[in-house]
Amino acid sequence: MTEAGTGAGGAKFAPRVFSGIQPSGDLHLGNYLGALKRFAETQDAGVESIYCMVDLHAITVWQDPAELRHATRELAAGFIASGLDPDKSILFNQSQVAEHTQMAWVFNCVARMGWMKRMTQFKDKAGKNAEQASLGLFGYPALMAADILVYHATHVPVGEDQKQHLELTQEIARKFNHDYGVEFFPVTEPVIEGTATRVMNLRDGTKKMSKSDPSDMSRINLTDDADTIAKKIRKAKTDPEPLPLDADGLAERPEARNLVNIYAALADMSLDQVMAEAGGQSFSVFKPRLADLAVDRIAPISAEMGRLMEDPDEIDRTLSAGAARARAIAAPILRRTYDILGMVGAGA
Ligand code: TYM
Repeated sequence: MTEAGTGAGGAKFAPRVFSGIQPSGDLHLGNYLGALKRFAETQDAGVESIYCMVDLHAITVWQDPAELRHATRELAAGFIASGLDPDKSILFNQSQVAEHTQMAWVFNCVARMGWMKRMTQFKDKAGKNAEQASLGLFGYPALMAADILVYHATHVPVGEDQKQHLELTQEIARKFNHDYGVEFFPVTEPVIEGTATRVMNLRDGTKKMSKSDPSDMSRINLTDDADTIAKKIRKAKTDPEPLPLDADGLAERPEARNLVNIYAALADMSLDQVMAEAGGQSFSVFKPRLADLAVDRIAPISAEMGRLMEDPDEIDRTLSAGAARARAIAAPILRRTYDILGMVGAGA
């Protein structure tokens, strides 16, 4: 990720990472392995990194205000407990930096209805009742593009489920640059890497692990205690066969593949390394090993989150300080955008 990003016409942008997580419900193992753990690795590799609790995205569906406040602080605690250092990275909540919504309006005017209608997450979330969905849910990906492009971010680490939104972000950047004859926005690259870009539901290996699944047994939450984590892994759905001898043998076995992928990501091993070690094992042997590994990795994060949540004022101070740093980057980029658009007063 040390390469500079490339703009529409080849202009170079300094490497800058942005990513966001919604404070809507508990953080789960998919968020940790697909996002948080990788954010910490990126930060430690020395790339300038901006991470956001996207509270304005959360309210595209109903959120109880007290729960939203709690979830935003708990998410901030989750970032810090996962290794994000608020002095090295910029950590803040989206609503404190108004430039996100200001840029989102511009992108509402760049994105086309047809592009938005193709978004599978909107179709999934709105379901059969699309007429009752909020306008915000429909426009969600334009706000997401704004989150990224208001910082001229070049790379966005995410799980697999965000790929289509990031392609839309690229389309928006290209169309803006083309329409105004500028090379102003980078064509940001999604970074979807590793063995856990799509952690699956523990009860059904064909569905992704998600905060919205009604069954708590379907996911491991970062706030689960050791016994709960072990129980969820013990009860995870599997087939009756032992593990195959190599990774190819996992192709038609979604539940087995998911548990092996989780093991690999938690242990920082490749799939082949895990199969060399665990190939041929029965689940009665593999599951307790996975449970021990998961508890070993998750329990300290959970404990640290609990400790940080004892001082919510300190979390709030961290988010405010992060917001001030974020605004210092976003405000001049928004001003230049307005100037390109022809807004009077923006060029001064
Ligand atoms: P959200 O809050 O649903 O998820 C946060 C991050 O976790 C990843 N993730 C997963 N990764 C692997 N397996 C899973 N089962 C799994 N479930 C979730 C997501 O891919 C994501 O990286 N729209 C975004 C938030 C957002 C954003 C942004 C992200 C808003 N603006 C700008 C990047 C850049 C979302 O709803 O993520």
